[in-house]
Amino acid sequence: MNSPNRLLIIVLILASFVMSCTQKKSTTGDQQMNTFISDLMGQMTLEEKLGQLNLPASGDIVTGTASSSDIGEKIKKGQVGGLFNIKTAEKIRAVQQIAVDESRLKIPLIFGMDVIHGYQTLFPIPLGLSCSWDMELIEKSARLAAQEASADGICWTFSPMVDISRDPRWGRVSEGSGEDPYLGSQIAGAMVKGYQGDDLRKNNTILSCVKHFALYGAIEAGREYNTVDMSRIRMYNEYLPPYKAAVDAGAGTVMAAFNEIDGIPATANKWLLDDLLRKDWGFNGFVVTDYTAIMELEEHGIGNLQEVSALSLKAGIDMDMVSDGLLTTLKESLDEGKVTQQQIDQACRRILEAKYKLGLFEDPYRYCDVNRSKTEVFTPENRQVAREIAAQTLVLLKNDNQVLPLQAGKTIALVGPLADNRENMPGTWSVAGDFARSVSLLDGLKNALGGEAKILYAMGTNVVSDPELDARISIFGKPTKWDKRSQKEMIAEAVTAARKSDVVIAAMGEAAEMSGEAACRTNIELPENQKELLKALLATGKPVVMVLFTGRPLAIAAEKANIPAILNVWFAGSEAGDAIADVLLGKVNPSGKLTMTFPQNVGQIPIFYNHKNTGRPLAEGKWFSKFRSNYLDVPNEPLYPFGYGLSYTTFDYKNLKLSDSNLIADGELKVSVEVTNSGNYDGAEVVQLYLRDMVGTVTRPVKELKGFQKVLLKKGEIRTVEFTLTEKDLRFYNSDLQFVSEPGDFKVFVGTNSANTLEASFVLK
Ligand code: BGC
Repeated sequence: MNSPNRLLIIVLILASFVMSCTQKKSTTGDQQMNTFISDLMGQMTLEEKLGQLNLPASGDIVTGTASSSDIGEKIKKGQVGGLFNIKTAEKIRAVQQIAVDESRLKIPLIFGMDVIHGYQTLFPIPLGLSCSWDMELIEKSARLAAQEASADGICWTFSPMVDISRDPRWGRVSEGSGEDPYLGSQIAGAMVKGYQGDDLRKNNTILSCVKHFALYGAIEAGREYNTVDMSRIRMYNEYLPPYKAAVDAGAGTVMAAFNEIDGIPATANKWLLDDLLRKDWGFNGFVVTDYTAIMELEEHGIGNLQEVSALSLKAGIDMDMVSDGLLTTLKESLDEGKVTQQQIDQACRRILEAKYKLGLFEDPYRYCDVNRSKTEVFTPENRQVAREIAAQTLVLLKNDNQVLPLQAGKTIALVGPLADNRENMPGTWSVAGDFARSVSLLDGLKNALGGEAKILYAMGTNVVSDPELDARISIFGKPTKWDKRSQKEMIAEAVTAARKSDVVIAAMGEAAEMSGEAACRTNIELPENQKELLKALLATGKPVVMVLFTGRPLAIAAEKANIPAILNVWFAGSEAGDAIADVLLGKVNPSGKLTMTFPQNVGQIPIFYNHKNTGRPLAEGKWFSKFRSNYLDVPNEPLYPFGYGLSYTTFDYKNLKLSDSNLIADGELKVSVEVTNSGNYDGAEVVQLYLRDMVGTVTRPVKELKGFQKVLLKKGEIRTVEFTLTEKDLRFYNSDLQFVSEPGDFKVFVGTNSANTLEASFVLK
């Protein structure tokens, strides 16, 4: 035998030895855990087991219509398994102490929270984060969020939210990663890894909870908590992948969605929670309901509290958020033979396992180190990272005549209801934020420009003109700061500032709580009063840059037509103002790309790039043909397509090449393209690869994202970017829900966004 072969064999033997050792280690670890939990459960009464399944809300933060009461007493009686939305290491330590010192079996509680896009150091809202297309950054944001949350008592986050949505009326699109299953899956995995790290027992990693399982993003009419009805084939191909990716990445828990699936609410859906999640996907963590979801099954009309609690348990729910249904009714159901002891034990075991894996039995105070909470939360270092990440999420939608970046030494009129509003910078779901310490755009520009340039600030108008609507959105410590002056007076002040300036920056759009949970809109244009302000500003003849704050794609056709520059900034987190200033002033060249299509108007919704072709597609380049699939009054094209985003520089694509015209079953196909930075700035570009399966046994989308690379190109640099495709990338769920590829013709598209690509073809043999 020659020596390379011998070497290979030695390496293989060593590798298998190491593998068997780690397997043994984890098997022994599992055995130890099982023995520990079996011993513990042996001592537990039925009531104490049911207590583990109970998750009341602390009362600090309430998101539903009910909150829990008498929690302290319940903890002492062993009627509580965990608590959520309570914060600070001191408070959590004190509550944990009740469980550990005053309950019979001293079982520690698990403490959860909606740590959605950072803890106290807030990163951009998830929709914004997704526009970075940067998995390392996204993972880092989750890692830092876990570090801060764990330093302040939290060991479990209700994140990532991976609901695919194509409907910007739904306020919760702000919490997810947009419309694409491929990108959404990558982000789901990155976030789970970021939260859970490589070892859950470390005191700076936390348990992740993927939500809302499943299909919540497809609610009808974009109206919160509404019905979902979807074919299995769409479900498997388009909506389920990100949940599965999170489970594959090891997410320890799953939250069931509020909506129904095939007529059975997710919370009571055995097919979903047991057959699909546990049996097909091999999920072995625990499943928690959403807020009061068991109680809500009564409203759905599938039984009274006792019946729906039994249904939920049997479907695969382990923990009951706020309903008290499992706690208060399962004994009766057990006595009546409606549930089994084994089903209760199973749920209880899963929750105890999670606590064991977090190391809570070893040290119930593992996450309550007051020193850590003083030194590791909202640190200058974390805030600096948040600022850097935020700058990567801004999307430049328009930049005529290179209005941006702003030239040095100019006088700036900073106008608009979002210009001087720290509280509204972090965006929705920022429960641990210290809003007064966020950086507003006014702060950010002042920080950056110091005495170098003059900034003339005027509010210009309120966020909305209807005081009732204003009250609805001025919640959770995020007032819009309603100005009582008349619209006329405010606009006049803004126009005066604009006239005295070289450039106008108009900070417009939504307030933070105009998106998020239960914040749906049927009109997704800018409020009329803001449009009026914009008109007045444009009439001054000064160049206007709209800095657009929003938690969803907005229908801004009029603004696109009239304003020379638009920078979409989402809600960029606690450091928003500094990050936006970095981009406006050219310190950072914007590179964010949209992950949700912007519609022309609300009537186009749902609109998404990866749609089917139909039997009567509209010919390319046309915008209306009788008896084709189109509208009379608006083209089919969106306002801005998926993947769109400009840079201060320009990128040219050419020479799309395939290594072969065929791809064989276990072979590889290399796809390469030459990208040139042809402008005047260094910049990052997200090179996107899409596929189309030309003929299938079921209809296939006109384009599907299958790869992307974010590359940094120096001014003038030319780079060949290469992707590798294999047969696996061509698989999809067929009508028997088998995950297969089908031989035949494929098109491959590579480009700067989903609508602007080069094209080539190959055949799968
Ligand atoms: C939301 C969840 C959230 C839960 C706990 C619910 O209303 O749907 O996403 O995790 O509240 O705050």
